Amino acid sequence: MKAVRYRNSSRVVPADEIAGLRARLAEAEGTIRAIRSGEVDVVVVTKKQGLQLFTLEGAEHTYRVLIESMNEGALTLTADKVIVYANECFARMVKCPLEQVTGSSFRRFLSVGDREMLRPLMKRSASTGSKMQVMLHAGDGSLLPVQISVREMAKDSSGRVTIGMVVTDMTEARRTEELLRALTQRVVQVQEAERSRVALELHDNITQLICAVVFRSQALAESLSACEGPAKNAAVKLCTMLGHTAEEVERISRNLRPSLLDQLGLVAVLHATGTEFSARTGVAVKLLGTKSSARLPADTELALFRIFQQALMNVETHAQAQQVTVTLTLRGGSVCLAIKDDGLGFDPEQLPTRRKGNGGLGLLSMRERATYVGGTFTVNSVRRAGTKIEVCIPLPSKIAAAS
Ligand SMILES: Nc1ncnc2c1ncn2[C@@H]1O[C@H](COP(=O)(O)OP(=O)(O)OP(=O)(O)O)[C@@H](O)[C@H]1O
Ligand SMILES: [Mg+2]
Repeated sequence: MKAVRYRNSSRVVPADEIAGLRARLAEAEGTIRAIRSGEVDVVVVTKKQGLQLFTLEGAEHTYRVLIESMNEGALTLTADKVIVYANECFARMVKCPLEQVTGSSFRRFLSVGDREMLRPLMKRSASTGSKMQVMLHAGDGSLLPVQISVREMAKDSSGRVTIGMVVTDMTEARRTEELLRALTQRVVQVQEAERSRVALELHDNITQLICAVVFRSQALAESLSACEGPAKNAAVKLCTMLGHTAEEVERISRNLRPSLLDQLGLVAVLHATGTEFSARTGVAVKLLGTKSSARLPADTELALFRIFQQALMNVETHAQAQQVTVTLTLRGGSVCLAIKDDGLGFDPEQLPTRRKGNGGLGLLSMRERATYVGGTFTVNSVRRAGTKIEVCIPLPSKIAAAS
């Protein structure tokens, strides 16, 4: 290339300088193109003071690609819950075209009940991220179980608050949860059947055998004359020990599956178990509430009895209580059993979790037992003021009406 002389300038620019300038111009154009298409999110500038980094708006591009390709719904909402941005995944979840999703209110995809819950969730999102499980109402009328996580984002340039939301499809998690619950329920059923079998074996075979040995040893003790003093004393002691053994085996058998529960019902068994517990531990047990011997469904009676056993076991192990008050009531179509002690109490929030490998199973299995029969389970405990456990199980309408 030839040298160039510019108009109004006496300077002649040599050809290699022009080529250098063109190369730099091409480079600058390339950089601008890359910035525009989002390929660049940081520019490094060499200054006298050293290298300086400038982040660019183009960084959003990377996150946009990430959000578009993720398997969760991502939304940006205004403070009054209008969707200003939604990704394709969310549009697929609610089975609506993306252009119909954008600009509509998020509330339209929720049931009335869930809408009520959304307001406090949004409030909490200002300080901490919050989560809740809801059912999304899709465009075709179907329902989708999801978890929504909400976080308030920085104010935009005009000072308005925007809210970021991630929507996770919980269908698979729910299915796994249900499977796990069904499996645990089956394990409990098998455990109950096995307990019944062992209780029956103990009662029918071991207790009968011990009783036979007691009679033989009584006969032996009576046949020994007074002059055989030490041997007679030993035989009498043997009888007493065998008597205690028979009682203990009966107690174990009763706890495994109290025949009284099948024969006389829940109230009688609560009385018998409470009396036996008081005699053994010295902790008074007061039974209040219904005296009715009306029979409840067998699985409800069994669940209540097992929860009662577990609660008493906890009182014995942890509470150092003086008294336990047990209240059995039939109200509002449900049967409720409350077990309250005046012991040490504990902080339910501070319990180590089973997942960490050091939590107990008692409270967990009580909750599961209540859930299997459609009931609710609550624990209230205050340090140095005692613990109250309450389980409420709905009754079939026929029994509820009669109670
Ligand atoms: N009535 C109670 N009084 C005081 N603390 C209690 C009472 N019931 C439960 N706790 C506390 O709650 C914890 C959890 O009870 P949970 O029955 O789940 O497990 P655990 O009794 O420790 O073990 P497991 O029941 O599996 O033998 C107990 O370790 C104890 O600290
Ligand atoms: Mg326990």
